[in-house]
Order: sequence, then C-alpha cells, then structure tokens
Amino acid sequence: MLSLSKHEWLSQIHFDRAGRSPVLKPNDNGKKMSDWIDAVDENALANGENIVIDVDGTDVAIFKIDDKFYAIEDVCTHDGAEIASGRLEGDEIICPRHGARFCVKTGEVKSPPAYENIDCFPVRIENGKVQVRDNRWD
Ligand code: FES
Repeated sequence: MLSLSKHEWLSQIHFDRAGRSPVLKPNDNGKKMSDWIDAVDENALANGENIVIDVDGTDVAIFKIDDKFYAIEDVCTHDGAEIASGRLEGDEIICPRHGARFCVKTGEVKSPPAYENIDCFPVRIENGKVQVRDNRWD
C-alpha cells in the first residue's frame, strides 16, 4: 500500500489542463506545475482595463492599474460570478452579481456577501508581453 504523508500527497496532486479534476502524477523533481504564459502585449491594455485568459484550465483576470499589472482568478468566492465583468473602483473590483468587493492587487475580500479571498497570481513583463503563471501547486 502506498504510504504518503499529507504534505507528500498534496505535492503530487496536479490538475489536468482541460478540467479541474485532480490527477496524481509522478513527482517531477521540483519542476514547476505551471510555466509562465503570455497573456497580452504590454501596451494592449489601458489603465483600468482587464483581460481574461486561460491558465492551465483556470480563468485568470489580468488588470492594469497605474501602469502595473495584477492577476486574480476570474471567480467571485461568494457564488462564482465572473469577477472581471464587474466595475473597477480604484484597486477594488465590485462583483456584478451581488456587490462583494475585492482588492485586485491582492485578491483580498473587502466587503460581503463574500468572505473568502480570491486567489491571485504572479505577473511579470517579458519581451513586451505580460506573463502570468499559476503558482498554487508549486
Ligand atoms: S457572486 Fe459575487 S457577490 Fe455574489
């Protein structure tokens, strides 16, 4: 019988690209689960705009605020609305369904009816492209 600690077991869970069901894969010796993905040209978004892209099966919303980029999962933690279609006020996005507010820079929930943060992702600029990666399973 396979005997793994909880940490060892969790470190071997990977999500398939098409869906979100976890599958066990052999340990890949520290290779990152998600590589950096080109999201959009560095100059394609105006401040206050966003774009949603698929990152390994997760919809990720990338926002440009004050010439910097931030990425959060495009899902409201209250009831699953696509948060990127909400209204942006400063660095807060307002859920279009029931009005919960989240900080786009950190994913932190700022007002009910949501009480859980949204996952946020690292962003970088590389060769004129905004890149993002899902680091949740590193
Ligand atoms: S789905 Fe976002 S506040 Fe309800």
